[in-house]
Amino acid sequence: MPVRHVYGTRENGAVQPDITRSVVLLGSTGSIGTQSLDVIARNPQSLRVVALAAGGGRIDLLARQAAEFRPEVVAVADPSAVPALKEALAARGVSAKVLAGPEGVAEAATWPCDIVLNGVTGALGLTSTLAALEAGRTLALANKESLIVGGPLVKRLAKPGQLIPVDSEHSALAQCLWAAGPAGQDAAAVRKLIVTASGGPFRGRTREELGDVTPEQALAHPTWSMGPVITVNSATLVNKGLEVIEAHLLFDIGFDRIEVVVHPQSVIHSMVEFVDGSTIAQASPPDMRLPIALALGWPERVPGAAVPVDWTAAHTWTFEPLDEEAFPSVALARHVGSAGGTAPAVYNAANEVCVEAFMAGRLPFLGIVDTVAAVVAEHDVTGAGSVEEVLAADAWARARARELTATT
Ligand SMILES: NC(=O)c1ccc[n+]([C@@H]2O[C@H](COP(=O)([O-])OP(=O)(O)OC[C@H]3O[C@@H](n4cnc5c(N)ncnc54)[C@H](OP(=O)(O)O)[C@@H]3O)[C@@H](O)[C@H]2O)c1
Repeated sequence: MPVRHVYGTRENGAVQPDITRSVVLLGSTGSIGTQSLDVIARNPQSLRVVALAAGGGRIDLLARQAAEFRPEVVAVADPSAVPALKEALAARGVSAKVLAGPEGVAEAATWPCDIVLNGVTGALGLTSTLAALEAGRTLALANKESLIVGGPLVKRLAKPGQLIPVDSEHSALAQCLWAAGPAGQDAAAVRKLIVTASGGPFRGRTREELGDVTPEQALAHPTWSMGPVITVNSATLVNKGLEVIEAHLLFDIGFDRIEVVVHPQSVIHSMVEFVDGSTIAQASPPDMRLPIALALGWPERVPGAAVPVDWTAAHTWTFEPLDEEAFPSVALARHVGSAGGTAPAVYNAANEVCVEAFMAGRLPFLGIVDTVAAVVAEHDVTGAGSVEEVLAADAWARARARELTATT
């Protein structure tokens, strides 16, 4: 059986050797969004923005981006931000069409283009992911939550080659499989996917030592600079749990063949072990502009996208097993991923509420995953056959997590 989804080949005409791509960028004001615009700004001959979308919290930044990249469309999820956006665009002489509300963001996701990059944060990215896929767009997916929450729906819609990972680990896995040639296209030749984890700011601490850590400490990631939710998720390792489910969904490999290994330097972004005992790894210093550029150009490489490893200097790369007792989030993710249906949506939704509660000082750090586990245990899993079913499970999990965190 072929390893799925991320293989567009020149033979089938899915990609061209010369990159000239028009890009719709969702979540343009965030960490992924601004780094994507940095990649695009440095490659004006090959990459061009046709639409920008954001939540509405940073109108001035969005207007400045529109003035620089001159998209045809600018969308904001918060309709109340539209007057300020229109004023800011007019002040900069930008005449882009303005779309408003979640439906406006979803419309931007279907705007004619070569590739949509979904850099929205959280489960609310699902609508845009589904809209882009339904419209037949190639989708560069940073918003892993939409794949996890809507797994069966997204997989049913996505044709081979239509979904390209932006997460550095999954970009690495795709590159390792690609590098293996025909063997990498055959799932039977793959023994294991090895997903690396930095271990986050609390690597090496016991469960007892995690009792009183603060949001400030959780937000101080040792190797990556990212948005707040994914940074806290990296501290709990929920992010790694989400990535294990993401790897399973993207590459059709069973959970028993996906391993997590802690690699504090974040230079090896993931590896594939083949049945003959060979392992292929992808290495580059931690910089999201590399996987972003590769996703926008896939499978062509954008020259100078990031600084490579300096092979003239001495390096020490270390690997250690994950402490499952201190960080039970990955085992819980395997459990919900194996259960399938609405279970991953519940894990993700409960986590988003718990992260908010932790940041607001209403929940201790260990309470995040403990509460997610409690919500997951109460949930009656259904098949996630429709958007309504997924959203209902998501809403139930949020409500239940809010009840549990309100009384903590
Ligand atoms: N950051 C990384 O290095 C990294 C690495 C791998 C994967 N990812 C994944 O990439 C995604 C984005 O992460 P991030 O760190 O870039 O998050 P972030 O910095 O919090 O940015 C989120 C973006 O989404 C926008 N947004 C919020 N609500 C929206 C809505 N309803 N519709 C459209 N846009 C909306 C925000 O706009 P406003 O500014 O208006 O609020 C902002 O532009 C997440 O799924 C994350 O797991 C991130």
